[in-house]
Amino acid sequence: MTDIFIFGASGFARETADVAISNGYTPVFVIRDEGGSDDLSDFGGVIAEPELSRQSGADCAIGIADVSIRRRIVDTFGPAFQFPALIHPLASFGHRQREVAEASEGTIICAGARFESRITLGRFGVFNLNSTICHDSIVDDFCHIAPGANLSGYVHLHEGVWVGTGAAINQGSPEAHRQIGRNTMIGSGAVVVQDCDADSVYVGVPARKRA
Ligand SMILES: CC(C)(COP(=O)(O)OP(=O)(O)OC[C@H]1O[C@@H](n2cnc3c(N)ncnc32)[C@H](O)[C@@H]1OP(=O)(O)O)[C@@H](O)C(=O)NCCC(=O)NCCS
Repeated sequence: MTDIFIFGASGFARETADVAISNGYTPVFVIRDEGGSDDLSDFGGVIAEPELSRQSGADCAIGIADVSIRRRIVDTFGPAFQFPALIHPLASFGHRQREVAEASEGTIICAGARFESRITLGRFGVFNLNSTICHDSIVDDFCHIAPGANLSGYVHLHEGVWVGTGAAINQGSPEAHRQIGRNTMIGSGAVVVQDCDADSVYVGVPARKRA
């Protein structure tokens, strides 16, 4: 089995490792300081971040949810390493969507995620357990769709959007996608019925911008 170097050492790193194992990899966790990680001996090895330079060209994945940390890792390690899309075998795809997902650098798709048709994906997305992405939606770079969140058709998530656990985003239309602005966070359980501004937090049913 080929090693894959997974940044992070917490719960999401282990979820990422689970997807990597299902793709035939042996996970090796990459931590920033040697003191701070969980016991990961049941999953694979652990190395400190500076040691990674010896593995130039190797496959990597980002097992950290925080969008700003994800961006830092890509800026620092993107030029010298590979970040293949990791797709759990229990994810499912509509017509030609698997090819779209496979071409999406650094994207992690967990068990139960479902992609319908004519979806456009950026790079380094996270599609967590049982999330659903309906037809004609656009998901830009570094978005995170938490477990059980649902995007209806014609939704456009701009870069760095986080959609919380169990949230729903109502559909846009062929003329006007439902727009969720850059770096906005949709709280768990929210139901979004209008476009959302950038750099904001929306919560509730219907979702309202938090002051
Ligand atoms: C919306 C969210 C980002 C707010 O986080 P925060 O800024 O730390 O907010 P706090 O926990 O300090 O709560 C602030 C207020 O918002 C309310 N609130 C927090 N999350 C809420 C939610 N999802 N829906 C409705 N209200 C919420 C709190 O009750 C609190 O209200 P109060 O001021 O009347 O007491 C966060 O609660 C959330 O939903 N994150 C997504 C979690 C998730 O999906 N995790 C997935 C892991 S894979």
